[in-house]
Amino acid sequence: MMFKSLFFVITLVVTQSLAADHNTFKDCSRVDFCTNLRTRQPSNDYSVDPDTITTNANTLSATLRPNSGGTDLVLTLTGLQEDTFRVKIKEVDSGRYELVDVLDGEPKPTDFNGVARDDTSITVSTNSNSNSARVTFSPFSIEFSKDGLLEVVFDGDKLTLLETEVNAPFSFGVKFPQAVQLYGIHEHCETLALKNTAPGGTDPYRLKNSDVGGFEIESPMALYGSIPVLYGHGPKATSGVFLHNAAQQWVETTSSSAGTTQAYFMTEAGCLDLFVLLGPTPTQVVRQYTQLTGTAHLPQIWVLGYHQSRYSYDTQELVKDVAANFDSHNFQLDAIWLDIDYTDGFKYFTWNPDTFSDPVEMQNVLNGTNKKLVTIIDPHIKVEEGYNVYDGALAKDLFVKNADGSVFQGSCWPGLSSYMDFLNPEARDFYGSMYSYENFQSTTATLAGIWNDMNEPSVFDNSLEMTLPADAIHHGNVKHQEIHNIYGFLHTMSTHKGLLERDNATKRPFILTRSHFAGSQRFAAIWTGDNTADWPYLLAEVQECLNSNILGIVLCGSDVGGFFNNPSNELYERWYQLGAWLPFFRAHSTKDAERREPYLKPEDTQGVVRTALQTRYKHLPVWYTLAFEHTITGDPIVRPLFYQYPEDVSVYKIDDQLLLGRDILVRAVAEAGVESVDVYFPGGGNEVWVSETSDDVQAGNGKVAIPVTRENIPVYYRRGGIVVRKDTVRSNTAEMASDSFTIYYTVDENNTAHGTLYIDDGVSFKYRDENDYTYVNIEVSGDNVTISNIQGDGNYPVIIEKIVRRDIVQMPEGSQSGRYKEIVHTTDASGQLLKNVKIDPKNKTVLRLK
Ligand SMILES: *[C@@H]1O[C@H](CO)[C@@H](O)[C@H](O)[C@H]1NC(C)=O
Ligand SMILES: *[C@@H]1O[C@H](CO)[C@@H](O)[C@H](O)[C@H]1NC(C)=O
Ligand SMILES: *[C@@H]1O[C@H](CO)[C@@H](O)[C@H](O)[C@H]1NC(C)=O
Ligand SMILES: *[C@@H]1O[C@H](CO)[C@@H](O)[C@H](O)[C@H]1NC(C)=O
Ligand SMILES: *[C@@H]1O[C@H](CO)[C@@H](O)[C@H](O)[C@H]1NC(C)=O
Repeated sequence: MMFKSLFFVITLVVTQSLAADHNTFKDCSRVDFCTNLRTRQPSNDYSVDPDTITTNANTLSATLRPNSGGTDLVLTLTGLQEDTFRVKIKEVDSGRYELVDVLDGEPKPTDFNGVARDDTSITVSTNSNSNSARVTFSPFSIEFSKDGLLEVVFDGDKLTLLETEVNAPFSFGVKFPQAVQLYGIHEHCETLALKNTAPGGTDPYRLKNSDVGGFEIESPMALYGSIPVLYGHGPKATSGVFLHNAAQQWVETTSSSAGTTQAYFMTEAGCLDLFVLLGPTPTQVVRQYTQLTGTAHLPQIWVLGYHQSRYSYDTQELVKDVAANFDSHNFQLDAIWLDIDYTDGFKYFTWNPDTFSDPVEMQNVLNGTNKKLVTIIDPHIKVEEGYNVYDGALAKDLFVKNADGSVFQGSCWPGLSSYMDFLNPEARDFYGSMYSYENFQSTTATLAGIWNDMNEPSVFDNSLEMTLPADAIHHGNVKHQEIHNIYGFLHTMSTHKGLLERDNATKRPFILTRSHFAGSQRFAAIWTGDNTADWPYLLAEVQECLNSNILGIVLCGSDVGGFFNNPSNELYERWYQLGAWLPFFRAHSTKDAERREPYLKPEDTQGVVRTALQTRYKHLPVWYTLAFEHTITGDPIVRPLFYQYPEDVSVYKIDDQLLLGRDILVRAVAEAGVESVDVYFPGGGNEVWVSETSDDVQAGNGKVAIPVTRENIPVYYRRGGIVVRKDTVRSNTAEMASDSFTIYYTVDENNTAHGTLYIDDGVSFKYRDENDYTYVNIEVSGDNVTISNIQGDGNYPVIIEKIVRRDIVQMPEGSQSGRYKEIVHTTDASGQLLKNVKIDPKNKTVLRLK
């Protein structure tokens, strides 16, 4: 929820529209350092002094001399594993803040296996000389190549480092010679393919975590999170850069023909610490990035179910009533969420004694039907003597300070509030300990997840752009501006630690966070914040979550139905249909919106939503298997088409479609009143796509108008892939835990199909710590379905109930479309029921169908 809803109720009701407050949230022209740096002409300010160059096993160092007076800079260039280089540039004797918490461990260096020098440059190479970085002396630049292909140029022309009384901004340029399209720099409500910005035109993309109510579509305005990663992509190569810096940034982007695609970074403070990722495919560049910042651990299985939230379910009776209605109307539900009103006066870790007089009984009722509870916990702490969290944090000196050393106080939900200084490890420990059963009283294990909101952090002061002042002071005398963009990241780090301790590390914590940064995937899921019940925001859900998925944060979703305003029934139905295909699936709405739980809707709408929920639950094995594979590889769960089909330039701008893994293609229907939509079927002659909702078959030859009804959005399975489902849908994930599997496939031109399946206890870290899981390959060849172990020491039964083979008929060679016929096997060739065949997950089992 957000500030604005409290004060602009009348605007909401009368105009039914919202706009971001451009008075409060500045554009580049109102931010001094951005204005200065943006209009700076290329100036070749620095040259490498060849006499200062030194190299050791994996690092090159040199002094950069200013060409016209000023401070010397130090350049270090380090070779890293996974086809990555690291570039650091700072003043000699720099006092710039260096981030310590973001990376997932110290990056692993790799030795140079070549150093070559001439009069104008020095080149170092790694990975059997397949990667090289050539530093030119004057003009200064660094050219990064992979296998002889120039992929990234650090452009010294535009390098500037300044120091003023209030900040220490810097800028630099990066060129992507092979790229025709830039992606990344989450979070903006923007198309997946980044637009071109330019002085006099579109503002640069801003990264400054901000609580922006009524954010606008297709805008470079900063939103709640920042991932300073930019990918340059073209048919020949994909590469990327990650600016490891948590200060405010602005990024000018130009996507154009190969040779002219480039970006210009303008940063307020902190270090110029840049990772260069050489790909050269989208899969590799994403893996290189997650190697640095980590992957998500597996969610508990219930997290992948459906969640119901509202600002607010504000009495325990209402909570129980909503849960009961989901059951009695046959809608799946795994968790119900409590927004701020459950607290006693917005004091987190307390309960409102009037409206939640018996929270334990409420949790027991929820648990009785296998539902979980998630409650909101924000980072601002009510200033009130006698409130244990406030008293404890004050006594231990754990709040953010003003520049003069006094404790900062600002306004938020409780009124006067102070803000936990999460940069301080002691503050993280203290706040984390509040989640224990002892400290967060009247909570049981049914309270299974936590929602960290307002953690940009939000401060109700427009003159401060709704956040802490830039000169506020954190632990170690660090100015807020140096670490602004990781405040929410550190908040979730504290919560994650607290939740681990709460359950003695026996359960995988679940946290939803609004503010986030590079690496937040290690602690939390995200949602896209306070959106609006309007069609463009439905599309934005795909755009933003595809973006976050290629930037490591795989668990992403949006407020289904839209946070502000009331969706039409058609929009509401389409949102459920799409939400079922995004990793995090939660409905949420603001106070002024009409109640809109599915069971309150007309019967026909209920039917559409019921089908959408059932579709989600049937595909749980797909979601869970992909979530596991992400923990190993860093691969996205939902993927843009260009990720899987990098050479097809016509998919580069497609962002109304997603791939769930490799094998399921989904087209959002984000248009009102349509009877057909254009679907792009990728893959050229090699792929064929088989409809999930009709007997339609389409060759991967590009765009086709596909009819849509109210009941369905286009969903296709890839020929040659295998989709493992649980087709008996029950009320929630817990009740489906031991259900058997149904295998769907269509064989490819070689009469084969391939897939994987992952199973574990759905709750604990035993999968990670004790290899307690079953992970199998499923190979179809002709009439044989072979199930064999990939890895894992667990003994989770693979019980196959049915095998559904969809055979393409009526599709002559070279035609675009056809039909399929479904053949359902419940027995093997000997007549034995498939579900009675004991499959040994540790060994190979062949099911012969004929
Ligand atoms: C939930 O209910 C189950 C089944 O009755 C019980 O075993 C479990 O202890 C309960 N959990 C909580 C947190 O109350
Ligand atoms: C955690 O471990 C402590 C000490 O062994 C024990 O007292 C407590 O009950 C455990 N808590 C949980 C949630 O398992
Ligand atoms: C089918 O087999 C041929 C020959 O082995 C191979 O080149 C082709 O890639 C295979 N097709 C698929 C879809 O795997
Ligand atoms: C199926 O398995 C049988 C028995 O193992 C084998 O003889 C046959 O060649 C297999 N068929 C295919 C198409 O792999
Ligand atoms: C796997 O199956 C083969 C053949 O049936 C058998 O010889 C072998 O012992 C089995 N291995 C395990 C680990 O069960």
